[in-house]
Amino acid sequence: MLELIGVDVTVSGLKILDGVTMKVPAGSITGLIGPNGAGKTTAFNVVCGFMRADTGTISFKDQPINRVKTHQLAKLGISRTLQAVGLFPALTVLENVMLGATSRTKAGILSDSLALPWVDKEQRDIREKSREMLRRLGLVDVVDAMPVELPYPTQKKVALARALVSEPDLLLLDEPAGGVGADDIRELATVLKALTPKVTVLLVEHHMELVMDVCDLIWVLDAGKIIASGTPAQIRANNEVLTAYLGEAEVL
Ligand SMILES: Nc1ncnc2c1ncn2[C@@H]1O[C@H](COP(=O)(O)OP(=O)(O)OP(=O)(O)O)[C@@H](O)[C@H]1O
Ligand SMILES: [Mg+2]
Repeated sequence: MLELIGVDVTVSGLKILDGVTMKVPAGSITGLIGPNGAGKTTAFNVVCGFMRADTGTISFKDQPINRVKTHQLAKLGISRTLQAVGLFPALTVLENVMLGATSRTKAGILSDSLALPWVDKEQRDIREKSREMLRRLGLVDVVDAMPVELPYPTQKKVALARALVSEPDLLLLDEPAGGVGADDIRELATVLKALTPKVTVLLVEHHMELVMDVCDLIWVLDAGKIIASGTPAQIRANNEVLTAYLGEAEVL
């Protein structure tokens, strides 16, 4: 579904990604892990078009997407949540989620402002779809809340609802479990497992228990390089991975 081949990223003369090659098989939950500062978010940003690779290829469904712009992602069938939650503070929960759905519809600003007949119907459909997604994620009670009124883990769920409502083929998640408690992480694991194989997931995550629980395949980044890949059991038993994580709080 997604493939990076020999991706280099240099920022201010510093090589942040160094020949990164990794694959995300269709229908899988694939993890990208590594210690703080390993380059995980940078790899994520390169796929999302926030940053450009100096060299290498990024392909999605066998098409190169090196030059993709972030606003084109939804149309391609890719959506994402960010390490920083990134909800629009002036919009309600429902409106935030509805925005996630509008990127794939035909109504645009022009037809909106002309109040063309299909716009009403489309808006109603989007509203219903967004409500349904919020219901699925246990967020019915906060539909009309403002993001700032919600605890951090709930904001993260809203961001996930916004990413899912466009019905992506590929969902990119950057640390969805960051700053979230054990119960919510268990719930997240259930949600992620239920998404596959229809949705392919790339999970950038620090929380080992979650990664080991849900991932079919794991890639390990350390100091900008892929040092290992394999099943959770293989990664757990990999000495190089254990060494990379020395000094970190997590226990593999
Ligand atoms: N725009 C930038 N300018 C300079 N340095 C950067 C930039 N973006 C990332 N870096 C550096 O690149 C390295 C990789 O950062 P990145 O955020 O990708 O790591 P990460 O694996 O996501 O870390 P974390 O687990 O803390 O989220 C770090 O040393 C970081 O300081
Ligand atoms: Mg990061």
